[in-house]
Amino acid sequence: MVTAAPAKESILIVDDEKTVRRSLNRCLTVNGFDCEEAGNAEEALGSLQNNPADLVILDIMMPGTSGSDLLPQLKKSFPDTAVVMATAVVDPDIIVNCMKNGALDYITKPFDVKQLISNIQTVMEKRKLELNLKETRQVLEGKVEKQARELQELFIDAIESLVGALEAKDKYTAGHSRRVTKIAVDTGLALGLSGEELENLRWAALLHDIGKIGIDPSVQNKPGTLTPTEYNYILTHCTIGPSIVGPLVNDMIVEAIRHHHDSYDGTGLNQTVIGKDIPLGARILAVADSFDAMTSDRPYRAAMSAGKAIAEIKRCAGTQFDPAVVKAFLKTPIINSLKD
Ligand SMILES: [Fe+2]
Repeated sequence: MVTAAPAKESILIVDDEKTVRRSLNRCLTVNGFDCEEAGNAEEALGSLQNNPADLVILDIMMPGTSGSDLLPQLKKSFPDTAVVMATAVVDPDIIVNCMKNGALDYITKPFDVKQLISNIQTVMEKRKLELNLKETRQVLEGKVEKQARELQELFIDAIESLVGALEAKDKYTAGHSRRVTKIAVDTGLALGLSGEELENLRWAALLHDIGKIGIDPSVQNKPGTLTPTEYNYILTHCTIGPSIVGPLVNDMIVEAIRHHHDSYDGTGLNQTVIGKDIPLGARILAVADSFDAMTSDRPYRAAMSAGKAIAEIKRCAGTQFDPAVVKAFLKTPIINSLKD
């Protein structure tokens, strides 16, 4: 079996003096490197775009764009290419600046061939190490991301179990959080929400009543009209919920849960915000929650028909509910299916 020879390491020589380029090219080629040449900054960038080099020998003093001016741009566009500066006059300030901008070494003209090859080999080794480190870091970052995803999935499972346990306590609310989530997300989509905003809404909807874990079921399921004190007590689930999930989810989710019983016109109990100052997630939840509550049986009344519930939601647009949210809610698939 014939084994392919390892690819030669490539070097781009950037120098305005042709004789310098040629002599470097000869010397490096004899020592096993694959060389290209460029006479100025533009040629150098063009050459690298067509054929990225492992290393660039970059003359500091060139007419037009100098090597030290080209260096930052070159490192930005070709971060994996090592750069060695070449100079006839060693100005420590310029050299230090070039090293700060990403050059790995410098060589002085006229070149001492032995020293030059030794420097280039050292820089090539350093570059390989840096690339290996970069690759390892990327692999590790990928693993961390995967673990974060797995943790999030575990968290989702735990939350879903918690919601399931909450709803199992009460036959009237079985499936309520899931149905509210579907309606809220569809309303969010109709409002043009996407990405993280929509994801936050999904979580807020799933968790909106989690605070009812702390509410006495005998009050929650009381057959008959609630007294103002009892109603006030039940509304504490809007503050209990955020204290349960606060350490686990972001502020957008927490605030949507906290305000999901707020009235758009500010007439809700203990309300601190009004109108568009109520988080959008909470305004969406208010509509979705009310629709599902009206169309479900309750200990004190039978379920209302969907048509009547829609009429009630429309009637309360501008008072209890945000009219823009009601408009979006009326465009959701569940409402459209009722029109057929
Ligand atoms: Fe609620």
